[in-house]
Amino acid sequence: MAVETSTFEKTALAGLYGPEDFGGLAHKNANAAVRGRITAEDRARALPMPSLEWTPEVERATAHLYERVKAVIPPVEWPFMAPYVKAINELKRERNAVILAHNYQTPEIFNCVSDIVGDSLKLAIEATKVKADVIVQCGVHFMAETSKILNPSKTVLIPDSRAGCSLASSITGEDVRLLRERFPGVPVVAYVNTSADVKAEVDICCTSSNAVQVVESLGSDTVIMVPDQYLAKYVASKTKVKIIAWKGACEVHERFTGDELRSYREADPSVQIIAHPECPPDVIAEADFTGSTAHMIDWVRKNHPQRVVMVTECSMADNVQAELPQIEFVKPCNLCPHMKRITLPKILDSLIYMREEVTVDPMIAEKARRSVERMINLKN
Ligand code: 13P
Ligand code: SF4
Repeated sequence: MAVETSTFEKTALAGLYGPEDFGGLAHKNANAAVRGRITAEDRARALPMPSLEWTPEVERATAHLYERVKAVIPPVEWPFMAPYVKAINELKRERNAVILAHNYQTPEIFNCVSDIVGDSLKLAIEATKVKADVIVQCGVHFMAETSKILNPSKTVLIPDSRAGCSLASSITGEDVRLLRERFPGVPVVAYVNTSADVKAEVDICCTSSNAVQVVESLGSDTVIMVPDQYLAKYVASKTKVKIIAWKGACEVHERFTGDELRSYREADPSVQIIAHPECPPDVIAEADFTGSTAHMIDWVRKNHPQRVVMVTECSMADNVQAELPQIEFVKPCNLCPHMKRITLPKILDSLIYMREEVTVDPMIAEKARRSVERMINLKN
């Protein structure tokens, strides 16, 4: 039932490092805020606050959008969301803005106000094609930074700049420089779940969709992969390349356990279990399929299981259920507190006041862009 358990369990990393191995100094200056700048909020005129009443007109204007989410949003909740949905869609036109949303966004954001949805790889690729003046990133900060790196002349907004990521905050650019000193000549791959500073220091980026391909593209027998130790371990199980990893972990995926998954299987031996590669090895060993958020969604679309456990952030199961209501989703509900900072009222605020603007030092952005573009330009 579980795939490639033995190969995966036997896989060892060639090394595992963390901030403590370098004295932890690099983290002291990590999150210095940029102050004294003229922001998009200063430049733009704030728009008037639209009416947020539930009226027959709002009901009519949003009826087609409610159709998309009615399997997961009860009718009693829609009157609170619909006025925001209508106002956001109108303000997007007024601001010439597009909304890019990650698969972990809640159903009303994912289905009712977003223009482009997807996993980290798709969002990065789509960000290179955006024609609008303004990008509102509904996801976490590193995703908004990636959009800014790829679109230096556009205004990139994030509805709550505190939407961080435990992986991105586990490593700094200086940590990467210290790793390079320890392993001279070994190429470094950064998961996109990293800050621009880190992306600027590495040879290439990867996402969970293409990590094995990226590692093998470097033609080296050893590669350093930062910052997710579990993604690194998963990649090590799929390639002959030796992997040196960083000790970071996703605070959402590291909470799942193999025991938990075995209990789902004992309760229903026919249940299908699919997991994200940020999960620990004992979880992946129990899964029938492992892949990025987009690959997990494609797997469900293609295989149409009767009952499925999606071992990842739980809003994603809601989004797939909205599309495929006949499938039963068993939901071990681990929410990403950072993704959940993004809400309809904050998106509306973003568009009214043009905040919070995401900026990246142009010198860092230029170096980081090379790492992201090198990944995007890899041929399949
Ligand atoms: P994906 O690239 O699979 O969308 O993953 C991003 C992420 O943050 C998962 O926790
Ligand atoms: Fe980061 Fe994990 Fe949240 Fe993804 S789910 S954004 S990896 S903390």
